[in-house]
Amino acid sequence: MTKRRAEASATADAAFAVAHTNIALAKYWGKADVRLNLPAVPSISLTLDGLFTETSVAFRRGLGDDRLVLNGRPAGAEELRRVRALLDRVRRRANTKLRAEVRSTNNFPTASGLASSASGFAALAGAAFVAAGLQASPREVSRFARRASASAARSVYGGFVELPAGERGDDALTARPLRVGAGWDVRMVVAVTAEGPKAVGSTAGMERSRRTSPFYDAWVDGAPAMARRVRRALAARDLEALGEAMEQSTFAFHACAHTAVPALMYFTPATLAAYTAVRELRDRRGVPAFATMDAGPHVKVLTSNAHARRVASTLARAPGVLRVIVAKPGPGLVVRRGAGAR
Ligand code: DP6
Repeated sequence: MTKRRAEASATADAAFAVAHTNIALAKYWGKADVRLNLPAVPSISLTLDGLFTETSVAFRRGLGDDRLVLNGRPAGAEELRRVRALLDRVRRRANTKLRAEVRSTNNFPTASGLASSASGFAALAGAAFVAAGLQASPREVSRFARRASASAARSVYGGFVELPAGERGDDALTARPLRVGAGWDVRMVVAVTAEGPKAVGSTAGMERSRRTSPFYDAWVDGAPAMARRVRRALAARDLEALGEAMEQSTFAFHACAHTAVPALMYFTPATLAAYTAVRELRDRRGVPAFATMDAGPHVKVLTSNAHARRVASTLARAPGVLRVIVAKPGPGLVVRRGAGAR
């Protein structure tokens, strides 16, 4: 084989993907089916620009096992297990036994409640599909991403995205882009309050909530109405109604987490300082700013383009806030054949 052909075959089974994080406006917390990873509640998110994962996947002959390099370092056993499970499903679908080398980099804190699993598994699903020679339809990639991490199903699409609740056994569930709200130029101001990984990941946290929180059923029963409020506010482009619905969904899921045994407390003093600053801006100064928190200590603030700078400078002064990122609505998954970064 000539050198050029050898190089071509070395990259023929490789692909590179970029997926952006998303932040839920109506939250997913709890599973209807653990094995198939189907959410018990509908969720609606906004994909953000500026916060993304870049992932390359190369299926290679001669590899004894899958390899995963995460942010430049060999990944731990649990991360490798989740990645291998997704790769196994892609291998079955593509009818190959080849093992893969995966390199993945986030440009923001990993596993800390900034949706790194959302962008990470969306990018992995997209790159693995194309590297395995499969047609990567967004619906199917979203379905595969959802099996790995349900919020990842939403990162396949840009802008506002919905993931319906699943019904036990229905593995066809995928996210879908929401036409209502499309093109609405809101801002999500992200106050980063920690760089390390979170104590209890979402998967374990929502399972603990389901098993032990007396508020779990109330959360699941009430979540569809909150998602409807979010959808209606998007259709009306009503920032206040959207923000209020998002905050209610946020605190309803955290109430469920707080009342789990042992309690799941994702807030830190910095989270509360940032939230207090948001409430002051809104209640005393009339700034349309609404906060949401996920399974980590960061605070993400929904506001208008016109108010984003003021919100960012206020958050930057809150005690414990390390840095602030102003994000716009971001694009969906992009995948291309071949190895290497942009
Ligand atoms: C609080 O998608 O990370 O961010 O499906 O178990 O991987 P798994 O959970 P994951 O949960 C995200 C939970 C959340 C809310 C949300 O993004 O909707």
